[in-house]
Amino acid sequence: MMTISLIWGIVIAVGCCLWLILGMRRRQMGEPPLENGLIPYLGCALQFGANPLEFLRANQRKHGHVFTCKLMGNYVHFITNPLSYHKVLCHGKYLDWKKFHFTTSAKAFGHSSIDPSDGNTTENINKTFIRTLQGEALNALTEAMMENLHLAIRPPVVPKSQMPAWVTEGMYSFCYRVMFEAGYLTFFGRDLTGQDAQKALILNNLDNFKQFDKIFPALVAGLPIRVFKTAYHAREKMEQDLRHQTLGKRDHISEVIRFLNYTLSTLDDMEKAKIHLAVLWASQANTIPATFWSLFQMMRSPEAMKAATEEVNKTLENAGQKASFEDSPICLNQKQLNDMPVLDSIIKEALRLSSASLNIRTAKEDFTLHLPDGSYNIRKDDIVALYPQLMHLDPEIYPEPLTFKYDRYLDENAKTKTTFCSNGLKMKYYYMPFGSGATICPGRLFAVQEIKQFLILMLSYFELELVESHEKCPSLDQSRAGLGILPPVNDIEFKYKLKHL
Ligand code: HEM
Repeated sequence: MMTISLIWGIVIAVGCCLWLILGMRRRQMGEPPLENGLIPYLGCALQFGANPLEFLRANQRKHGHVFTCKLMGNYVHFITNPLSYHKVLCHGKYLDWKKFHFTTSAKAFGHSSIDPSDGNTTENINKTFIRTLQGEALNALTEAMMENLHLAIRPPVVPKSQMPAWVTEGMYSFCYRVMFEAGYLTFFGRDLTGQDAQKALILNNLDNFKQFDKIFPALVAGLPIRVFKTAYHAREKMEQDLRHQTLGKRDHISEVIRFLNYTLSTLDDMEKAKIHLAVLWASQANTIPATFWSLFQMMRSPEAMKAATEEVNKTLENAGQKASFEDSPICLNQKQLNDMPVLDSIIKEALRLSSASLNIRTAKEDFTLHLPDGSYNIRKDDIVALYPQLMHLDPEIYPEPLTFKYDRYLDENAKTKTTFCSNGLKMKYYYMPFGSGATICPGRLFAVQEIKQFLILMLSYFELELVESHEKCPSLDQSRAGLGILPPVNDIEFKYKLKHL
């Protein structure tokens, strides 16, 4: 027995020595400082995963603005000076944005390759997204969203005497329920078989979406979905509802979904449904927490509530509209929605405080990255990453960075502020919850419009109060760091009551 343990001990010790001698990368001339971590393959992944912001700040203090960390078998070069961001994006010739995105999507949603060079798509899918989520297409999406938000938020018409009193609910659950329903109907159309069938479909999908989304970070980290039985079945059920056959029974399907059916012409129905599920996830996973933070931060700040209410009232008055339970629902066009700098600033500030996205590119070949901080040699297949949360919480750019200031993005004329400085220099990139460059979120314009529409309806139809008037701000759920807007770790209760309109 003793001998077997001894042999195993020797094998493990020799393995570790071999890994240290042969497997561990050594920093070469001109390369950024390197953190290999102590665990083979994982490298620094555990420290990074526990608190990415603190991990990166500690390395920034130790190494300066550029350093390399081994994470899950990859060598990731972090560029942490926001004044260098535009220079990184200038090296597009050497950096591939597709590889990481396409493989991550295929891993999480189980679809085959959507890289046009693999022949499954007739055009670059990114172009399809831009064409169907922006420009003319954005008008139709915004219009549909307003109608669907009314369906999800506005209660049935009741006589004034029977108006319900205060309702208490978790604010995150409320935002989840309302945004999921309205967003699902906007992208995947309405059920022609009637209201009851529609409600049932939404409720089932909402449950399944939550199950699937819970394990999303694990899927991105590379774990197979089969390990998570409930999430696996939840994903399968959602896919069934997104099959062409099923969608054929629905009305008002969005252009993006109709167009994808055409772009992905060589894929079968099941494969297309998996990609539709990726669109559902992209359209909901960040928007739901972003809506929560916008409503929560606005309600916590009496000045923000006052300024937002005044702006909403003025916009409705200028549009010749009035919130009412009997008359036609509020309907604001793109131009009217775009001209609401206070709501814009509230949403931006809420997203600045809650966003933790990771912007990733893969090196196509060995090359030298020229930055204001110096030049660095990068090896083929290494990853170059930006982590904009470092910038969003930098006190030099955003004084008192952890405080919600509703007017942070307003200038002295109460218009949108666009001048932010670091080290005395005007910044090109100062706000990046939606990513940057070639991978910037194609749904960002719609996302801001839908959150704005939600806030307009909440302020117009309801009296709103927090149950605890001095509610503490919930912490951010760090387990989702890197994926976008972090949800709160706990829900908070709020009260709402129909206004006497
Ligand atoms: C507040 C809400 C949202 C946030 C914060 C957000 C953020 C992001 C981020 C950070 C990325 C990746 C960018 C990168 O890798 O550099 C992304 C990609 C994407 N987003 Fe959004 N997003 C939001 C809402 C939406 C909505 C409503 C849609 C509508 C369908 C959408 C569609 C997409 C798509 C399709 C991609 C992938 C683009 C590609 O890889 O070609 N997003 N989003």
